[in-house]
Amino acid sequence: MPLFTRVSPSIIAVDYKNPDILNKALEDIEEGGANFVHLDVMDGKFVKNKTFDHEFVDYVKNHTTLLLDVHLMVENPEKVVDDYIEAGADVLHFHYEATKNPEALLKHIKSKNVLAGLAISPSTPAFKIKDLLNRNLVDVVLVMGVEPGASGQTFIPGSAEKVAEVRELDKSVYIEIDGGVNLKNSKVLRKLGANILVSGSCVFESRNVSKTIRALKGRDWRIHMHSL
Ligand code: DX5
Ligand code: ZN
Repeated sequence: MPLFTRVSPSIIAVDYKNPDILNKALEDIEEGGANFVHLDVMDGKFVKNKTFDHEFVDYVKNHTTLLLDVHLMVENPEKVVDDYIEAGADVLHFHYEATKNPEALLKHIKSKNVLAGLAISPSTPAFKIKDLLNRNLVDVVLVMGVEPGASGQTFIPGSAEKVAEVRELDKSVYIEIDGGVNLKNSKVLRKLGANILVSGSCVFESRNVSKTIRALKGRDWRIHMHSL
């Protein structure tokens, strides 16, 4: 299992349309020790809300040195993935529920040297992606902790069990947990096998962004180091 916990703050938790607020948020999380910036693309079809497209991702790429963690919540993601690869996505997730051929799409993303992320909504059980995991087609599994569509929702408890189930299926894949992550549930999520924590409201509503990011990362890695 990858040793360190990464934190990926979700920018939709701030007023990202205001360039001053966006730039300040990017600066805060970069200085605060985040590993990625999480970019939630919503098309108004796969989910009700609409956010931004690849042009915004391109803007962010030019305003931060953080890795871009792009989460597509769109119908027919195969039609748009190349736009996001070109915009500079480092990790590119699409939803298992949004496409007929996840295998082809994972292969395509990997062939472009971008980490391929497979997102699963609360209604999709872990066993559905077993075959894709066994064939090493997935770099990151994104387990939704809430229904996709908005920041600031409450964590669905069954999502923690799903993290454990995915970890049971694959010991080395990155597991990203997205939605409703906070300082209370982060410890158990890390313990169950999540190693990328997305956080929107918990990071951006906190008074001290860097302290919050550090707390989300935890100190588990020290334990691992001692056992090496
Ligand atoms: C939900 C998004 C999440 C969300 C996280 O559809 O995928 O990334 O913005 O926000 P919080 O941490 O506030 O739940
Ligand atoms: Zn997300």
